[in-house]
Amino acid sequence: MEIDKKAISHSIKSWVRSLEIDGRVYAFSIAVVEGVADSSVLSKEELQTFEELGELRKASYCLGRVAAKSAVSALVPSLGFDRIEILSGIFGQPVLRCDSLRGFNVSIAHTGEVALAIVFPEEVPCGVDVEKLREGVSEMIAPELSYGERKLLAGSGKDAEAVRIWGAKEAMSKVLRTGMAVPARFFEINESEKRGGGKVYRYQHFDEYLAVTYTTSEVVFVFAVPIVIVKVIEGFYY
Ligand SMILES: CC(C)(COP(=O)(O)OP(=O)(O)OC[C@H]1O[C@@H](n2cnc3c(N)ncnc32)[C@H](O)[C@@H]1OP(=O)(O)O)[C@@H](O)C(=O)NCCC(=O)NCCS
Repeated sequence: MEIDKKAISHSIKSWVRSLEIDGRVYAFSIAVVEGVADSSVLSKEELQTFEELGELRKASYCLGRVAAKSAVSALVPSLGFDRIEILSGIFGQPVLRCDSLRGFNVSIAHTGEVALAIVFPEEVPCGVDVEKLREGVSEMIAPELSYGERKLLAGSGKDAEAVRIWGAKEAMSKVLRTGMAVPARFFEINESEKRGGGKVYRYQHFDEYLAVTYTTSEVVFVFAVPIVIVKVIEGFYY
């Protein structure tokens, strides 16, 4: 994968997985980028969106594009960044445009100098979030949660739990492409359990989906995915 060294510092990690469902093989790709990226990674059309953003958003936009293009490149290694475009749809949702990879889309999240992206087949839409851990953040998030969700916060690790629950809601809102413009209760979380190295959350209204989360000392990575493909995410570590 050819990447302009000036445009990026720090690291890119990617994971490619495939899974057979009902006799059909589906491929997925995840990338995490940590660092800084500039607009040299953008296509002409992406640059137009970039120019309309405020200064703070410009850096995260570029970093998110690097994560998304890295995930696509991991899936189709012959592809350079110049042959991959991630446009922005009417809801702000990312739209993958790539002649060599049709029928796929991408979900993107960024916080500070970390960006996460997953490329998935359109038949099995996925959504991601990455959120920074901050002390006391549960006090900001709790008023936005339902009574049932606040009960999940009881006990130790309240801040991380609040961030995971909020991240699970945002990730699901990206699956549906509404974002959080609809009431947060649509993405109600009603159960959680520890699994592998992470924690998973169930949605009240989306039986077919799970939120799989991984918590590091600094951030929480969240994947809202159909239960049938959860194995794909279980390979993720950071
Ligand atoms: C979508 C949303 C949950 C993202 O959360 P966030 O904390 O702002 O940012 P994140 O880092 O988690 O995710 C950002 C990425 O989500 C993606 N995204 C934005 N809107 C999306 C949508 N409706 N569906 C799916 N993905 C979306 C984009 O790729 C975006 O990155 P980019 O703009 O650099 O491409 C949030 O912005 C939201 O609720 N938006 C809807 C309400 C709103 O403000 N709309 C204004 C535009 S009409």
